[in-house]
Amino acid sequence: MKLSGKVAIVTGGSRGIGMAVATTLAENGANVVITSKEKSRLEKASEKIKNSFSVAGDIRIIDDVQNIVKKTIERFGKIDILVNNAGIFPKVKPLHEITESEWNEVIDVNLTGQFHVTKTVIPYMMKNGGCIVNVSSDAGLKSFENFEADAYTASKAALVMLTKAWAIEYAKYKIRVNCVCPGIVETDMTRPYLATEADRAMADAEHPIGRIGLPKDVANAILYLVSDDSSWITGAILPVDGGAVTR
Ligand SMILES: NC(=O)c1ccc[n+]([C@@H]2O[C@H](COP(=O)([O-])OP(=O)(O)OC[C@H]3O[C@@H](n4cnc5c(N)ncnc54)[C@H](OP(=O)(O)O)[C@@H]3O)[C@@H](O)[C@H]2O)c1
Repeated sequence: MKLSGKVAIVTGGSRGIGMAVATTLAENGANVVITSKEKSRLEKASEKIKNSFSVAGDIRIIDDVQNIVKKTIERFGKIDILVNNAGIFPKVKPLHEITESEWNEVIDVNLTGQFHVTKTVIPYMMKNGGCIVNVSSDAGLKSFENFEADAYTASKAALVMLTKAWAIEYAKYKIRVNCVCPGIVETDMTRPYLATEADRAMADAEHPIGRIGLPKDVANAILYLVSDDSSWITGAILPVDGGAVTR
């Protein structure tokens, strides 16, 4: 199997894209540590994913992140793969209506959270190499009409540039860093925007391939980026979006 003997951490592994990623990596032989905030949901997810182990924590809090990494090392002795997937999507509103606390909440999870996790994991990868995949978004690559989610856009665009910076900075340690930018994927995050048939049809039409994505579509791309099939790829920003950003 592609990932036999590998140890992976997937943040936001309790549901949606993260759960599909954790399941796919485990199906390909990896031992997977899933993390997220809500312990009961996380434990239920872990029961469904073979070869998985869960550690709850809030990625905004560095002590929680250090605990997740400590527990992973105690159990498996190393970390080969990190998928920075946890994220939140704010209520869509124009810039002049966004409050300071709404702005900070998104930046704290989607950007500072990824910084906390990556800076804590990287020293364990510096000995034997590793693979990191950041989950950004089409919103980090392009402005969309009627999509005023400025803190989200800023956080996801920052992840795109951090991917390139970390790829260059850590290539000498054989650590590859890549990024996926999903279009609209059906998860708890997007379900409120897909409530009616008309909403769904509009969302499908945003994607030239003619449909929105499934968590598995993103998981398959991430599997490629963390396997040896992509061993000469680092710093890549891969839209996984049925062509939405290319339009
Ligand atoms: N769905 C889309 O259309 C789409 C498109 C582009 C990019 N993305 C990105 O893909 C990633 C996953 O999205 P999704 O749609 O799968 O979302 P989701 O179903 O809402 O799941 C989000 C995950 O992130 C975790 N999380 C949120 N805040 C956290 C925190 N402070 N600390 C630790 N974990 C936290 C959640 O944990 P709890 O269960 O504990 O809340 C959950 O596991 C996000 O980064 C999102 O921005 C999604």
